[in-house]
Amino acid sequence: SEKHLDETLREEVVEHRAVEDSRRIEPADVLNPFPRYRKMREEHPVNYNEEEKLWVVFRYDDVLRIVNDYNTFSSERVFARRRQDEQLTEEEREAARSLLSTDPPRHKQLRNLISQAFTPRSIAQLTPRITEIVNERLDLVIDQGRMDVVSDLSYPLPVIVISEMLGIPTSDRDQFKRWSDAIVSPHEEEAIQASREMRSYFKGIIDQRRKQPKNDLISDLIASQIDGQHLTEPELLSFCILLLVAGNETTTNLIGNAFLCFDEQPEVMDQMRADQSLIPLAIEEVLRYRSPVQLLVRAVAKDTQIGDQAIQAGEVVVPCLGSANRDEAQFPHSDVFDISRTPNRHVAFGHGIHFCIGAPLARIETKIALTIMLERLTNIRRVREIELEPIKSTFVYGVKHLPVTFKRA
Ligand code: HEM
Repeated sequence: SEKHLDETLREEVVEHRAVEDSRRIEPADVLNPFPRYRKMREEHPVNYNEEEKLWVVFRYDDVLRIVNDYNTFSSERVFARRRQDEQLTEEEREAARSLLSTDPPRHKQLRNLISQAFTPRSIAQLTPRITEIVNERLDLVIDQGRMDVVSDLSYPLPVIVISEMLGIPTSDRDQFKRWSDAIVSPHEEEAIQASREMRSYFKGIIDQRRKQPKNDLISDLIASQIDGQHLTEPELLSFCILLLVAGNETTTNLIGNAFLCFDEQPEVMDQMRADQSLIPLAIEEVLRYRSPVQLLVRAVAKDTQIGDQAIQAGEVVVPCLGSANRDEAQFPHSDVFDISRTPNRHVAFGHGIHFCIGAPLARIETKIALTIMLERLTNIRRVREIELEPIKSTFVYGVKHLPVTFKRA
């Protein structure tokens, strides 16, 4: 979400949507931007969009360099502009600064506060609970012989898991869904409204936890200090919103996108059933081939050059992860979905200091979801009569619904 997203992300969304709109892309193209990316990698690998006044970067090497060089390509400066937005209150402008939108040295300090909760080791402890949630979701639909992978499984799973980690009632999850959708949507008013509602929601929870701490992430964040200072209320709020939104749209789409890939190659499901060690490899290939987060945003802090283009301080650069992950120079036969691909150095989780902190969580949730589905269900087939509808967002790739039929194993 990937905005990924707190509302800072939302600014990116609005910008990218405008880029897309200017090219009048049809729904089918939204789910298949890859031929266009290829053309851009070949002909305009560093392309200035006059209308939007930003640079879109399509090649793997250039994308990697941008995300690694945080001194030149700042995350914080993108959002500094947002802080001048007149529609926002003072407090909202303050809140635009979150982990995702912070540069060193503050970035590292903020990241340290939550890194412990997201290590592969901490996350592995969630295995029994994730397994239980997936089984419960399947129990609800297994007799029907059909399900919507999105609404029956891939949406509820990550939102339940992160809600439990944060310590917020999972029963409010329909509300979270509406908010997350609004935040990644291209409609600015809706997004601002949603982020206001989210903030007031989290304010209530934070007040409760201040009085009565529990064993959850929100209580930990309230108690934590950087150089003897507690996080401010706007900082706490943007942290909570980032974690809730970032983990949702993205993991939901990873699971959904996996089934879009399997729809093209159903035999992959049999291969994974026969050899479960293939499941993690398949997940990495889904991340590469249909990256849930297609675009990032950086602002140029000092004059620089990308490829043969000179770029000045203050300009906005959009590294296109979805294109980098299809770059033939890095991935031979890049348009082939190949679960045995090695190496597979995709950048679907970003790279460098902002590398997705939720990656171990997203991977384990997806692994457990696929493993249990393949164990309990056979003949899983997408209902092709129902047209795929892309999510309304330009930086998140996925579909709104994914109906499948199946038999009990
Ligand atoms: C950062 C993708 C799941 C929390 C990122 C970034 C990407 C990304 C590309 C880098 C952003 C940048 O460099 O500007 C994804 C994908 C996911 C996923 C594809 C699922 C398939 C999650 C989950 C969580 C999460 C489950 C947490 C619950 C975060 C946070 C950051 C981040 C907090 C900011 C890290 C930082 O700035 O240091 N994610 N993400 N993500 N992600 Fe994820």
